[in-house]
Amino acid sequence: MVPPVRIAPSILSADFARLGEEVRAIDEAGCDWVHVDVMDGHFVPNLTIGPMVVKALRPHTTKPFDVHLMISPVDGFLDAFAEAGADIMTVHPEAGPHTHRSVQRIKALGKKAGVSLNPATPAKMLDYLIDDIDLVLVMSVNPGFGGQRFIDSQLRKIESVRKMIDKSGRDIALEVDGGIDFETAPRAIAAGADTLVAGTATFRGGPAAYADNIRRLRGS
Ligand code: DX5
Ligand code: ZN
Repeated sequence: MVPPVRIAPSILSADFARLGEEVRAIDEAGCDWVHVDVMDGHFVPNLTIGPMVVKALRPHTTKPFDVHLMISPVDGFLDAFAEAGADIMTVHPEAGPHTHRSVQRIKALGKKAGVSLNPATPAKMLDYLIDDIDLVLVMSVNPGFGGQRFIDSQLRKIESVRKMIDKSGRDIALEVDGGIDFETAPRAIAAGADTLVAGTATFRGGPAAYADNIRRLRGS
């Protein structure tokens, strides 16, 4: 049996004035993980949230916090996000020279370690990380903003990463992030994704629509 696809709503598209309620609403609507986009205005051209917000949101759900770190340098913040309640922490190799060290630090903190690839970054970047990581995050938009269009060339990368993961025999999530909607979700799943991040497509229509949005993204 094919396991169901996990849905990780990106709270970047939530109402920031009511973030706690929004997290409770997506939890009740059936999300699997809560995707938290951390941006520094340096590695990516936008600024979002830090460990204090993650800590403030932690009591609002027991679902895993999937923390996507778009910050450079990242190492100095790993402990703070772990203490704040992150369950998965994902770093970008383009953001610094020591991705292997960052991955080891995340694991030493007892958290799941992810590596994210920007659209122009080849899957090959994973060759010497695949034995250590718990998640690969394929960016299907250039990171920095929600609401962008899915970049079709990333489907080939998802297929390549799927092969690498299967060959490794390890339990590694393959997550896709950016421009996921009811049309692109099935294409990402067909290419081998098992986890979909969706900001705009989850939060569109307000709380009354979240459950239906999540169900449709999952393809069920
Ligand atoms: C982009 C972020 C994404 C983004 C997804 O830098 O990593 O998580 O919020 O938003 P949508 O689903 O609207 O493309
Ligand atoms: Zn993200």
